[in-house]
Amino acid sequence: MARIIILVAAAAASLFQSVTCQCTAVPDKTYDYIVIGSGAGGIPVADRLSEAGHSVLLLEKGPPSSGRWNGTMKPAWLQGTNLTRFDVPGLFNQIWRDSNGVACEDTGVMAGCVLGGGVAVNSALWWKPPSRDWDVNFPEGWKSTDMKGPVEKVFGRIPGTDTPSQDGIRYNQQGFERISEGLNAAGFKQVTPNVQSEEKNMTYGHSTFFIQHAERHGPLRTYLETAAARPKFTLWTNTMARRVVRTGGRITGVQLDCRNGAGHNGTVNVTPGTGRVIVSAGTMGTAKVLFRSGIGRTDQLNVVKNSALDGATMISQDQWINLPVGYNLNDHVGTDIQVAHPDIRFYDFYAAYDTPIQSDVDAYLANRTGMLTTVAPNLGPIIWTQVTPSDGITRSIQWQARIEGRTNTSMTITQYLGTGTISRGRLDITPTLNTRVITAPYLRNATDKEAVVQGIEHMRGVLNGVANLTWVTPTKEQNTTAFVDSIPAALSSRNSNHWVGSCTIGTKDGREPGGNAVVDLNTKVYGTENLFVVDASIFPGITTGNPSAAIVAVAERAAERILALK
Ligand SMILES: Cc1cc2nc3c(=O)[nH]c(=O)nc-3n(C[C@H](O)[C@H](O)[C@H](O)COP(=O)(O)OP(=O)(O)OC[C@H]3O[C@@H](n4cnc5c(N)ncnc54)[C@H](O)[C@@H]3O)c2cc1C
Ligand SMILES: *[C@@H]1O[C@H](CO)[C@@H](O)[C@H](O)[C@H]1NC(C)=O
Ligand SMILES: *[C@@H]1O[C@H](CO)[C@@H](O)[C@H](O)[C@H]1NC(C)=O
Ligand SMILES: *[C@@H]1O[C@H](CO)[C@@H](O)[C@H](O)[C@H]1NC(C)=O
Ligand SMILES: *[C@@H]1O[C@H](CO)[C@@H](O)[C@H](O)[C@H]1NC(C)=O
Ligand SMILES: *[C@@H]1O[C@H](CO)[C@@H](O)[C@H](O)[C@H]1NC(C)=O
Ligand SMILES: *[C@@H]1O[C@H](CO)[C@@H](O)[C@H](O)[C@H]1NC(C)=O
Ligand SMILES: *[C@@H]1O[C@H](CO)[C@@H](O)[C@H](O)[C@H]1NC(C)=O
Ligand SMILES: *[C@@H]1O[C@H](CO)[C@@H](O)[C@H](O)[C@H]1NC(C)=O
Ligand SMILES: *[C@@H]1O[C@H](CO)[C@@H](O)[C@H](O)[C@H]1NC(C)=O
Repeated sequence: MARIIILVAAAAASLFQSVTCQCTAVPDKTYDYIVIGSGAGGIPVADRLSEAGHSVLLLEKGPPSSGRWNGTMKPAWLQGTNLTRFDVPGLFNQIWRDSNGVACEDTGVMAGCVLGGGVAVNSALWWKPPSRDWDVNFPEGWKSTDMKGPVEKVFGRIPGTDTPSQDGIRYNQQGFERISEGLNAAGFKQVTPNVQSEEKNMTYGHSTFFIQHAERHGPLRTYLETAAARPKFTLWTNTMARRVVRTGGRITGVQLDCRNGAGHNGTVNVTPGTGRVIVSAGTMGTAKVLFRSGIGRTDQLNVVKNSALDGATMISQDQWINLPVGYNLNDHVGTDIQVAHPDIRFYDFYAAYDTPIQSDVDAYLANRTGMLTTVAPNLGPIIWTQVTPSDGITRSIQWQARIEGRTNTSMTITQYLGTGTISRGRLDITPTLNTRVITAPYLRNATDKEAVVQGIEHMRGVLNGVANLTWVTPTKEQNTTAFVDSIPAALSSRNSNHWVGSCTIGTKDGREPGGNAVVDLNTKVYGTENLFVVDASIFPGITTGNPSAAIVAVAERAAERILALK
């Protein structure tokens, strides 16, 4: 969803500076695998490596999130319960109201820097990727036939639900119902999205979430629980990887900075000879770890070399590995349309944090029923279309409706341009070592814009079939091309928080002329012996829908391939 980005860096930094550091020095112990980052990629890959019998250390720079892992951030009405703001579906929107100590301070775009990363702070939307997502985007070894097993493993553990409330009721469905009338009349077919997951043109359904018992579920409640139960698995929160320590292509350990007045510091080493490091720090975070480790294009490594933080201690230039880290950046380009209908009812999920409706709190706490089991701000329906502009390349489009807009009867419907999108951007690193989107990946190629316009033109016709529906944006008379042109192709107006691609997987070694890949088909960083990347950053292109399930499937596949490597 395109939302206003709240820049919290300064506030969050000052919050923690006053705290006295009680850092724990790393113990004199080595690990077979050190995984950097506990997000959608990091938790599952750490679990699968640990399941195979290896000692695994999972590092997370942020604090615990869910009450399941001793998280503490919560409103007054959750005091005395085992729940935090991250657990209750009706509070998932709080990230847009108050992200201090939750959002990353160093990424320039919204990302979760807590245990679980994106899967602790996101809307929990959970989509089984259609074959097309793998076949269009990914290289050999990662096509839909290769990914079938991993995807089944993911959905075996995390099936998802379209009815979070324990009484089976979906609340305030007026928006879903009115929009569905228009879709049905236009020939759309209602599907159960993760059952009929290949049907991604002219279909719609209820939003599906990784929620169980009306609480956030997903990797934090499955993969992390099985990992944590194994004696050779270790999790350190509030512990940031500054850089990997390496001699040429051999990584010996990870240098740490403790954070938030807690965590570990020092250098932790991998098992000599056989140990490996997996970077799963997210599309922005992984690029930063690589840059600080002397891996990237020379212009970026020079920024690190000249920085106050790292200049004096950075690995020497003769050891730099020249790879296109930060290129091929992508995200769903989001275009919001807004309609209104007298039947639609807005529910104030933001107010539910400090001044909730008591009967809704009671129903949630006593029975896990009621409005607060609904993911804020009441997301649905979800709609799929496909368009093929003049370049002949089909674009997948996902539409996400939510009850939020200019009035209490408004509904915003975001168009995500997905698989088939050709525009790409770039991220870079600043002298204070923050990553930043230097080239936004939105609508840089004319045919992507054609696809957006075609998609909206179609949807306007469909929704015009809904009785008593009125248009907020575009206005009824506005020309669709003019409407699309009126929204800048910029981060502030188009971002969807689905960043992928900064460390692309592929067969064309990025150190060679014309090479575009940072990691090989085993997710190993070119030019290294034992450094891997497993997260959204290796995606060559963007998915059809919200990407978290695809990222977990990639982690499953990566674990298979890494474990098979001698
Ligand atoms: C607000 C929001 C809403 C979203 N909604 C949805 C949705 O509903 N459905 C969906 O499928 N997707 C959604 N997404 C996207 C999805 O959550 C991400 O695509 C996914 O989490 C990315 O996985 P990842 O493993 O690449 O990185 P992340 O999940 O971001 O994990 C990276 C982790 O690494 C940690 N880290 C970073 N640097 C370091 C370091 N140096 N040392 C140690 N740890 C480090 C971070 O703190 C973080 O925990 C949303 C994202 C956001 C931000
Ligand atoms: C809270 O406790 C209930 C009851 O024991 C349990 O079902 C639920 O999973 C717990 N939730 C969290 C987030 O720990
Ligand atoms: C959570 O707190 C309990 C009680 O202090 C402790 O036993 C447990 O190890 C903690 N869990 C984590 C993941 O820190
Ligand atoms: C770790 O942090 C402590 C402060 O808590 C500090 O005294 C110590 O020097 C640090 N160690 C390293 C290796 O940075
Ligand atoms: C919880 O469910 C029970 C059984 O249906 C019901 O009697 C009770 O009123 C509910 N409590 C709340 C607070 O809704
Ligand atoms: C999607 O459906 C529309 C309407 O039936 C059709 O015109 C279009 O060709 C389909 N797109 C693809 C790629 O099949
Ligand atoms: C919209 O709803 C909110 C909360 O339900 C209410 O406070 C506000 O007065 C309503 N606004 C209008 C214009 O009806
Ligand atoms: C897309 O646009 C970019 C930037 O203008 C350009 O470099 C690239 O070649 C274009 N790609 C295609 C496939 O047209
Ligand atoms: C449309 O609105 C009119 C006037 O408020 C009402 O009489 C009619 O029933 C509505 N039609 C539908 C289909 O909602
Ligand atoms: C919008 O206006 C442009 C000219 O500005 C025209 O080419 C185009 O056909 C119009 N589009 C629609 C969908 O009416």
